[in-house]
Amino acid sequence: MCMRDFDMAPDLLVNGVPHDDYLQQEGKSHQHFAYVHTHLFYIFLELIKNAARASIERAQIESALCENESRLDGRQIQALNVIVPEDQELWDQEKSVKLADLGTGMNRSVLSKSFSYFYSSVKGKPTVADEVTDFDRRMPLAGFGFGLPISRVMARYFAGDIDVNSIPGKGTDVYIYL
Ligand SMILES: Nc1ncnc2c1ncn2[C@@H]1O[C@H](COP(=O)(O)OP(=O)(O)O)[C@@H](O)[C@H]1O
Ligand SMILES: [Mg+2]
Repeated sequence: MCMRDFDMAPDLLVNGVPHDDYLQQEGKSHQHFAYVHTHLFYIFLELIKNAARASIERAQIESALCENESRLDGRQIQALNVIVPEDQELWDQEKSVKLADLGTGMNRSVLSKSFSYFYSSVKGKPTVADEVTDFDRRMPLAGFGFGLPISRVMARYFAGDIDVNSIPGKGTDVYIYL
């Protein structure tokens, strides 16, 4: 989606390692547990889309402020950082994941509205055809204002939660308790 809309995308690191390398590391990714796959996918897709959008927008703002402005490319976007406990016992008890971005962040006013249905900082609601479903690649990256509230409802339904903290201009931390 980022490549489609911006022709660039942030890297995704898991415990400091590029995500595809992390997945290949034998022995580290044993965090198996029972969960409804589509809900897990929905939650992480929405949170990663938000983090990616904020990271790209921050890079765009900084590149526009830069005097000797060169064309913005993907290398100027800060990576998204996922932290997962690797200790099996800890994982079994907690199942907590952190997703941190160094994007635009949110002030307290936006933060307090961010879990409201229909709230989005995107100007102008996107329009899509009726036949486009949630996981369709043609979906817009943001704008409906449903990502955070629906993700939290799903997490809470399965006795988890989602917490967001942010500092404007510095980035956002999302804690996902599964
Ligand atoms: N990681 C983030 N960094 C900065 N702002 C965020 C982040 N996640 C959410 N937000 C803010 O919360 C709003 C609501 O998010 P969401 O419910 O996913 O709706 P949408 O992405 O469609 O706007 C976003 O429009 C944005 O202003
Ligand atoms: Mg969103």
